[in-house]
Amino acid sequence: MKKNILKIIDKKNKRPLVCLTAYSKPVAEILDKYCDIVLVGDSLATAMYGMKNTHQVTLDMMIHHGISVSSNLSKALCVVDMPSNTCRTIREAKKNAKLIVSKTKCDAVKIECNGRNFRIIESVVKSGIPVMGHIGFTPQYFKKFKVQGLLNKNILKLITDAKKNERAGVFSIVVECVTDFAAKEITRSLKIPTIGIGASKHCDGQILVTDDMLGLSGFYPKFVKKYARLKNIIEKSVQKYNKAVLTKKFPTKKNSF
Ligand code: KIV
Repeated sequence: MKKNILKIIDKKNKRPLVCLTAYSKPVAEILDKYCDIVLVGDSLATAMYGMKNTHQVTLDMMIHHGISVSSNLSKALCVVDMPSNTCRTIREAKKNAKLIVSKTKCDAVKIECNGRNFRIIESVVKSGIPVMGHIGFTPQYFKKFKVQGLLNKNILKLITDAKKNERAGVFSIVVECVTDFAAKEITRSLKIPTIGIGASKHCDGQILVTDDMLGLSGFYPKFVKKYARLKNIIEKSVQKYNKAVLTKKFPTKKNSF
């Protein structure tokens, strides 16, 4: 296994892993200083492109944003999401994972678990491409949001899926929107780190969609903490610009040649 991947696994039981999403160069440059993992998430569908969900994301979209992010990271591990329609069979998944890695130079891909695709995940790992897993609420395979792991039988299924991902060779696993208890049990039953989103403090690391935590996306479910209100800041700046242009206060001599 590659050194940078081993470094991530090695953090389990030592210190929490800090992870965020990025889709562009300026954000990647900032995150690189503070994150262990930067994910080019297919959440770009909703956060950037205004799509209803992540179901229509294309390989090209992931590759374009993957290049923008990966080429501006020097420290953090770069992971690029695989849209569900790019990894439906072993052949398709291996071909597209290879394409993503060769075009973007990312360190790993992420594949959401649908409870059946363990052999597909395993085949990508065996082809030499590190894979991050994703269980719990997996947006590619759900139509409506629902917290996972509310019943004992659901918790057992989550633990089974997590272990099957581990056996398939994933180096870490995103655990999305599960109960505290489920997150604790999943994390305890794995040797690889769990990265929680809406999955309590019991995970080995945390991830949020950067546009959500910056108050830019307009999507703020309970598990998101807003660390800034960028939407307000941008709106106020644009208002000022609008006024300045209309009143001919911009540009001034200082802005002219
Ligand atoms: O697409 C994404 O950004 C993700 C994170 C929410 C984990 O999968």
